[in-house]
Amino acid sequence: MGTTMTRWQADERLRSLLADYDPERPLSRAWTLPKEWYLDPAVAELEREVIFARTWQAVGRRELVQDTGQYLTFDVAGEPVVVVRGEDGQLRAFINVCRHKAARVCTAEHGQSSKLRCHYHGWTYDLQGRLRGLPEFAGVEDFDRETQGLPPVAVAEWGPYVWVHLEPPRQSLEEFLTPLPQWVQQRGDPFRQQVWHERRSYDVACNWKVYVDNYLDGGYHVNTVHPDLAGVLDYKDYTTTCAGNTVLQSSPLKAGEGAAGRTRVGDLAAYWWVYPNVMFNLYPGVMDCNIVVPLEVDRCRVIFDLYFAPGTPADFIRESLAVTEQVQREDMAVCEEVQRNLRSRSYRAGRFSVQRENGNYYFHQLTARALQGALGVTPHPAVPARGTQP
Ligand code: FES
Ligand SMILES: [Fe+2]
Repeated sequence: MGTTMTRWQADERLRSLLADYDPERPLSRAWTLPKEWYLDPAVAELEREVIFARTWQAVGRRELVQDTGQYLTFDVAGEPVVVVRGEDGQLRAFINVCRHKAARVCTAEHGQSSKLRCHYHGWTYDLQGRLRGLPEFAGVEDFDRETQGLPPVAVAEWGPYVWVHLEPPRQSLEEFLTPLPQWVQQRGDPFRQQVWHERRSYDVACNWKVYVDNYLDGGYHVNTVHPDLAGVLDYKDYTTTCAGNTVLQSSPLKAGEGAAGRTRVGDLAAYWWVYPNVMFNLYPGVMDCNIVVPLEVDRCRVIFDLYFAPGTPADFIRESLAVTEQVQREDMAVCEEVQRNLRSRSYRAGRFSVQRENGNYYFHQLTARALQGALGVTPHPAVPARGTQP
């Protein structure tokens, strides 16, 4: 990690790319991130290390790790992680890489076991990550099993998810999520009022930031891209509030037609985004939580966990899932098109609607400050010929 940072720090091409963006402009004069930030593998690699390894990352549903020995696995910043509930009731997370030959210790997405047994040669670790069983290893010298446990990683629980933080966290999860926990409390904890129904996973041919940009445009694309959904959102009262590591977009609901009208009812739609890659979409009695996982510079996976109020009729669920699926298809199509066209010779960066896109700019500011700060780059965007910023 240290040597990797040094290599990046010495990378002049990457440094000048990062310098070519000013995150301190007022919104009315701000630009979107330059297209290279969505296309260059070096930027994606840097993001892994300084954004995804240095933020709280949602890795799976809490209810999967309630009982002793229950575990779940997930990749964070390209690093396999396992979260497991110990005999003492404590939740722990470890790097899920065997000390022997670096196979994954646990391979299932989730399960339950009295010990963690590597699937390759069968080394076993206890639920606290200590190396316990080494088949046919007698006679090996200079081997200190005490130091050969699975490396621990910070873990915490909040809302529907378990979260981990690869690098030592500077903030507790609650602090990191502020003001979301306070809002949830005021609303009587909508997360506890709903039951998980299913998970859907979508591979999208775009940079993860294109997907987040689409999410954070303050409803700007709702009328054009999602005509059915547009019918239930009171668009003129759509508000976007940026605070800490979050953006809240919310809209009063109004009576609408069709499946969207029948399944999105009540007072308020609230769309919470948590930097960098988690979204909570809350309607009365209907909720979906999304995790956006970068795969390559031009590919990401979007995971949807879908929830409903207990006792919701099957017909309602079917119709509601169809609405979510359609909205997701519409978003994916436009995101993939944007990713392709970012390569156009005509385009380098864009501007923001002051009325709508403050949340999107906030995301670009957080991202730019993280990347520039990590490499000690001072912004000096002054390459008018390339068309970013005047
Ligand atoms: S790699 Fe895990 S036991 Fe060999
Ligand atoms: Fe959308």
